[in-house]
Amino acid sequence: MNKDFDGKVALVTGAGSGIGRASARLYARDGARVVVSDVDEEGGAETVQLIQEAGGEAFFVRADVAKAADCEALVKKTVETYGRLDAACNNAGIGGEANACADYSVEGWQKVIDINLNGVFYCTKYEIAAMLQNGGGSIVNMASILGQVAFPAAPAYVAAKHGVVGLTQSAALDYSAHGIRVNAVGPGFIKTPLLAALEADPDTMNMLVSLHPIGRLGEAEEVAELVVWLSSDRSSFVTGAYYPVDGGFLAR
Ligand code: NAI
Repeated sequence: MNKDFDGKVALVTGAGSGIGRASARLYARDGARVVVSDVDEEGGAETVQLIQEAGGEAFFVRADVAKAADCEALVKKTVETYGRLDAACNNAGIGGEANACADYSVEGWQKVIDINLNGVFYCTKYEIAAMLQNGGGSIVNMASILGQVAFPAAPAYVAAKHGVVGLTQSAALDYSAHGIRVNAVGPGFIKTPLLAALEADPDTMNMLVSLHPIGRLGEAEEVAELVVWLSSDRSSFVTGAYYPVDGGFLAR
């Protein structure tokens, strides 16, 4: 059977858990050789194992996306091992503190910006350089509904995700003529370990569900389906776009 990513190579950051793991699995399902990257070596190894058990091909590279040198080395290792880079999902991210501006720590702000925004820039920068070598590619950056609207007590996260959308559009503008498409995905609240702290409080969970007209939170695979579509040639006329996958959150 012909698959969208036959002969192609995909890289996913934050692939040791949640949306990143689901995206890595779907790239592999659709025929890609997958580079699974994360700071969490155990989670990354589990993702590789899941892909291999399903008959796919993957290997793990530890990289902290807050460090430019790690991102450069990650892309280098990808090309050394598999010879090319066709698709990348810059997904690694953290939630950060639950504080409004005046109470938000400077260190906490810096950390969220370092991982959620600077990390996406570093990865995009080195991925584009590698994709130019094989005549093109597709990058999907993991934004959020909070890349379009704000949410209480999350200034760093909201600012970083808005930045990811701007960076995505900027890179799309500069590289579309070179065969590289860059898009952003904006999940609503998705059931992953990122929300683990909130799950303990049923009132908070009910409040979050009520924000999604579809009447539930999302599943990681529902985001991953959009990631692989945006990465494939099936979306060949789509670039510089922000795609919500949010159960209607932004329609309210
Ligand atoms: P998760 O917590 O399940 O997975 C995030 C992964 O990123 C973890 O494996 C973690 O080890 C890794 N990571 C954290 N810091 C890193 C770093 N410095 N370098 C490399 N890897 C690092 O979270 P989830 O929910 O899968 O989130 C993935 C992305 O989706 C994030 O960018 C998040 O902001 C975004 N997102 C999540 C939503 C949700 O409701 N779960 C909603 C909207 C966006």
